[in-house]
Order: sequence, then structure tokens, then C-alpha cells
Amino acid sequence: MTLNPKIDELRVKREQGRQGGGAERVRRQHDTGRSTARERLDILLDPGSLRELDAFVVHRSHDFGMEKQHYLGDSVVTGYGTIDGRLVYVFSQDFTVMGGSLSEAHAQKIVKVMDMALKTGAPVIGLNDSGGARIQEGVASLGGYADIFLRNTLSSGVIPQLSVIMGPCAGGAVYSPALTDFIFMVKNTSYMFVTGPDVVKSVTHEDVTFEELGGAEVHASKSGVCHVVGENETETLLLVRELLSFLPQNNMEDPPFVATGDDPLRADPELDTLVPDSPNKPYNMKEVIHRIVDDGRFFEIHEAFATNIIVGMARLGGHSVGIVANQPGVLAGVLDIDASEKAARFIRFCDSFNIPIVTFVDVPGFMPGTTQEHGGIIRAGAKLLYAYCECTVPKLTVITRKAYGGAYDVMSSKHIRGDLNFAWPTAEIAVMGPDGAVNIIFRRELQEADDPVTRKTELVSDYRSKFANPYVAAGRGYIDDIIEPRDTRARLINGLEAFQNKRDSNPARKHGNIPL
Ligand code: HXC
Repeated sequence: MTLNPKIDELRVKREQGRQGGGAERVRRQHDTGRSTARERLDILLDPGSLRELDAFVVHRSHDFGMEKQHYLGDSVVTGYGTIDGRLVYVFSQDFTVMGGSLSEAHAQKIVKVMDMALKTGAPVIGLNDSGGARIQEGVASLGGYADIFLRNTLSSGVIPQLSVIMGPCAGGAVYSPALTDFIFMVKNTSYMFVTGPDVVKSVTHEDVTFEELGGAEVHASKSGVCHVVGENETETLLLVRELLSFLPQNNMEDPPFVATGDDPLRADPELDTLVPDSPNKPYNMKEVIHRIVDDGRFFEIHEAFATNIIVGMARLGGHSVGIVANQPGVLAGVLDIDASEKAARFIRFCDSFNIPIVTFVDVPGFMPGTTQEHGGIIRAGAKLLYAYCECTVPKLTVITRKAYGGAYDVMSSKHIRGDLNFAWPTAEIAVMGPDGAVNIIFRRELQEADDPVTRKTELVSDYRSKFANPYVAAGRGYIDDIIEPRDTRARLINGLEAFQNKRDSNPARKHGNIPL
């Protein structure tokens, strides 16, 4: 107690607000393995840094018995704080208050921090645990979501927006995250769906569990809606902190430089023998990445989705980079619809936020066949091409083995403004692989040959020595240098530093028309 009763009243009210939906609902929240909105912010933010805003806001509805249910702060905690000393704006939905559902007042609280974040050029992190639009408020809550969607869209490419799904999220509580840059989910306790299993049952008569409909595994591996999965809430929130460490505060800044002590000139002789002699034998491109980046730390994004391509953040000589790499260990690294979309989106994110892109290429081409053609591989592949073409951040490319056909053009080639394009001596740059090429251009000769098998072997070997090497491309200047694999780290760091003040731009226009 203080000597001033007004201050005592303030303290009592603050404490009331901190109780959320009450002890019983908090217990239920804990029983499902989930923390409360405030407990989560304590993990996410630097200790004691949260400055809460709008703790006294209450909802304004008088229908359906709502006049009897007033909770200070309503169903969301908002404010600003720091992560590693850097300013971030946050909102954390409180499921213990009416399922974290979004009232008009709840929406206005979120809109306020989003506007502040855009004005001050700081990231927004949303911790989502909400049944979506508050049913009792009708159009006022729908309008509230639309206000948020508009800001999500206007902030896109200006400040990083990160969403964490921390409970059963439906309706607007999934569409707003879907407009942000990255979605994190927690294994076993977080779900995303347009509507929950009860509504699904009444509309389609389908019996489906939360997990089957929209669990972390489904969205991380099948739909690709989720970018990063944590084992539990704490791990997930720590991963958010780590991802943020690679990003600038806004599109006018460069990403932070973080010296790691890993020698920029470190050579790795193991890389010299990593690509197998046989061109069709797989190897793990992740090993290449781990051996090259600072301290072997690669923050992978979309780890379980479209695994024939790899994307994620790392540092090289302390500089943040976005890595895009074909994975010869999965489907020979072919580009299909999902892989193209996964990489295109990541490239556009990096380009928006001044993060240089390093591309490792080992790709046999685009995936053929009716499933891919009918699913729109032409449209999806064009997205990737478009993303690389429009991108103006420094682009460094290393062809480790195959760069065949259109995929050579697409994967950050010199022709589409690749800044430094390296090839390992094992690189093969050609319109297609030797087998397919010989079958087409020597079909008649092979049909007429006395011994077609021997003749084909000769022709393949001839083709291989003429085309399946990096020297033809390097002879034309399409490859800037052929490097020894062991020196890749040093050459990339040197290249990043050479290009760090690169200036490039696209023609002035309202916006381009990426093939969506
Ligand atoms: C008001 C809601 C609510 C909502 C949940 N609650 N969702 N209150 N509006 N949208 C309340 C419940 O009444 C309950 O209150 C408490 O939150 C917990 O909900 P439960 O159902 O008991 O929890 P659980 O079993 O975990 O299920 C969670 C759920 C389910 C899957 C989210 O509640 C659900 O399906 N809700 C509706 C989801 C939905 O269809 N939303 C449509 C949004 S449309 P008590 O008092 O019992 O604790 C939308 C449009 C936006 O958002 C625009 C999109 C483009």
C-alpha cells in the first residue's frame, strides 16, 4: 500500500488486468501445455523490457451477455520491448479471455502497435492464440481484422513481420499471419485452419482432428504455410529471437554485422571430394552449406517442405546472407512447383530487406510430367525466375555440379544479374544431361549403328567432354571464375565485401506483376 489511494487503485487495476480470463481458465491453458500471453512475452523479450500499452482497454459490446464480461486489456496484450537490445513491437493474444477472439477493441490495440512499428521502422511480432473474429461482435470484429490485414500488407517489405502460432488459430487469426513474412508453429499445441473441426464436421461431414486438419507437421511439410517449427513454446520463441538476429530493423537498414571469430579465410579440403565422381550419385548439399558458413550455423526455413530445395539464413564473415540451394539428395534437386514457390518467396524476402543471396546450384532442370504441368509448373517456375530477375541485392552463385537447361538460367545466372558466379571444376553446364541430349541429336545415327550401345557410350563421352564442364561458360564470361571447392568460403566472403555497396535498381513503376 502507498500513501496515495489513487496509486493503490491503479495497482489493483493493473493486477486485475494481469489475471486475464481468471485462474480457472489459466489452469486450463496450462493443462493443454500452453503458457499464457504474458508468460510468452517474458520468454520472447529481453527481461523486463516490455512496455505494455492499452492495458485498460475493454471491449464495447453489449450483446449476447457481453455486458457482464469485461476484462481489462480485453483478449490481447500489446506493447513494445527489446530483443538483443533492439526495438520490437509485439502483441500476444490471450486465449483465457474469450478464446483470444478478436473484438473491435482487440483489433484497435493491434493496429496501434502496427502503426507505431511502421512509423519507427521496427519489426512486429505477433503471438497468435485465437479463435478469430469475436462472434458476438459481428461486423465490428470483421472490420477489425480487415484493418489489420491492410496494415500487414502495407508493412510488407518495409518492416519484418513475424507470426507465432501458439494455440488453435482460426479465421483472421490465420489470415493475418499468412500475410506476414514468417510463420512459426509449436509442435503438438498449435493449429491453423480457416475453421475448426466442429465447423468442418457440420459443413463437409468430415471427421478430422485438430492435428490432421492443421497441426504443425501438416503445415510444415504438406501445405508449406508454416516456415519454422519448435518442439515446445520456449524453443519456438527462442527461434524467433534467433531469426530476428539475421534481419535489419526495416528496409532502409542493412542487417546487423555479427563477428563470430570463424576465420574468413578458412579452407575446407573435405569440400574437394564431396561431389561424387558419378554425376547421378546424390550428396547432401546441407553439408556443403554447413562447411562454408560461419560456425556451421544454418537457420533453415521450410525445412520439411519441398526438401528438394533448401533455403535459410546464415552468416559469412559476420554478414547475414540468405542461402538458396538445390538439394541433389532429394529428387536429384529438381525444381518442382513447391520448390519454385518456396525459393521465390524467400528470395523476395531477402531482397526486400537488403540481405545478399548466395545460391548453390546442382539442378537437373524442371520436373517433367502431367502432375507438374497440370499443377502449373510453368507458372510456379516463372515465379522463381521473376524473383531472381527483379532482385537487386548482391547475388553470389556457386555451381557445384549440374546446371542444366532453364534451371541454369533461373538459378541466379550471370544473365539475370548474378554479381559473382563461380563454378567448381565438377560443374556441368548444358542444355540437358548427356544421355537425353545424345538420344535427341543422334537418334537416327543410333538407330542405324551396328553396335548402338558402344556408339552411344562414345557419343555421351564426347558430349560430356564438350559441354558437361564449366569451361565453355567460363570461356564466355558467364562464369566469373572456376574455384577450388576448399576456397569457397573465402571467395564468397571476399565477394560479399566487394559487393556490399552495390547499387542496382529496377525501372520505376507502381509494382510488377509477378505470376501468382
Ligand atoms: C467468441 C470464442 C471464439 C470466437 C472461441 N471462443 N472462439 N468466442 N468468438 N470466434 C470462446 C469459446 O466460446 C470459449 O469460451 C473459449 O473461447 C475457448 O473456446 P473452446 O471452443 O472451448 O476451445 P477449444 O476447444 O480449444 O477450440 C478452440 C477453437 C474453437 C478451435 C478456436 O473455439 C473454434 O472453432 N472457434 C471458432 C473458430 C472460427 O470459426 N472462427 C471464425 C472466425 S471468422 P468459454 O467462455 O467457454 O471459455 C474470422 C473472419 C476473419 O475470423 C476474416 C478472414 C479473412
